[in-house]
Amino acid sequence: MWDYTDKVLDLFYNPKNQGAIEETSESGVKVATGEVGSIACGDALRLHLKVEVESDKILDARFQTFGCTSAIASSSALTEMVKGLTLDEALKISNKEIADYLGGLPEAKMHCSVMGQEALEAAIYNYRGIALPTHDDDEEGALICSCFGITEAKIRRVIVENHLTEAEQVTNYVKAGGGCGSCLASIDDIIRDVKEKQAAATVASKQKVPVANSPQPSSKPLTNVQRIALIQKVLDEEVRPVLIADGGDVELYDLEGDKVKVLLQGACGSCPSSTATLKIAIEARLKERVSQNLVVEAVEP
Ligand code: FES
Repeated sequence: MWDYTDKVLDLFYNPKNQGAIEETSESGVKVATGEVGSIACGDALRLHLKVEVESDKILDARFQTFGCTSAIASSSALTEMVKGLTLDEALKISNKEIADYLGGLPEAKMHCSVMGQEALEAAIYNYRGIALPTHDDDEEGALICSCFGITEAKIRRVIVENHLTEAEQVTNYVKAGGGCGSCLASIDDIIRDVKEKQAAATVASKQKVPVANSPQPSSKPLTNVQRIALIQKVLDEEVRPVLIADGGDVELYDLEGDKVKVLLQGACGSCPSSTATLKIAIEARLKERVSQNLVVEAVEP
């Protein structure tokens, strides 16, 4: 018997926001849908978001799922969490936050929280017309686990976001390795590679010249030199380690007024969702840590 929290059991017995949101002719409102998983693999989730076009705000969220207790509770939790958020705010929700909302999930059931986060991302990407990464032929999207159709990019992401250190944990989070087991050695290699890249990024950031590290609002505005130094520091310490572990990187190219020009490298530069990467991973972080006025723009190498 799984050791579920009271919150998980409550949302399983009394799920909130179950069902679909039908397309609407209401003016200024659109419905976005994201679907992940497959019934053949045991779990599937379809998420519906009702979005106010002008504000990008999520007015309503509903789900349909084929899955276990944790899948129903995670989907229900997710719909409660996203209501009232803008799409950019919702995109920052991690699978860990979904599990935390539930007071935790048994590790073997963490894949349900990952499924919720992926359905949310799929719905928002669909709404924005951004292509989701596929595992056709590029290295970053290489298929690692053919039993469950799991790509290298997906494995790297779950390792980074959840600080995973063993292949068994990866199986619990995304199922990869849980079938024939022939991909477990590759998963071990990816874990080792992520760790090495994170360690290298940490060493590189420590070797940088220290700068004033207060991103707090100050009565005295930062000079342009201070702003560049602070942007560089945030990129080095908070953004690059995540991108590097994911096979990409970013370099500060220039600052023109509030426009931060960056060069995206590696997997980020060729990734079909690089626009989203820019907006979410870089711009949101710089707005939060340096200035709300900053806008990030990619330049060609
Ligand atoms: S290929 Fe991953 S479990 Fe079979």
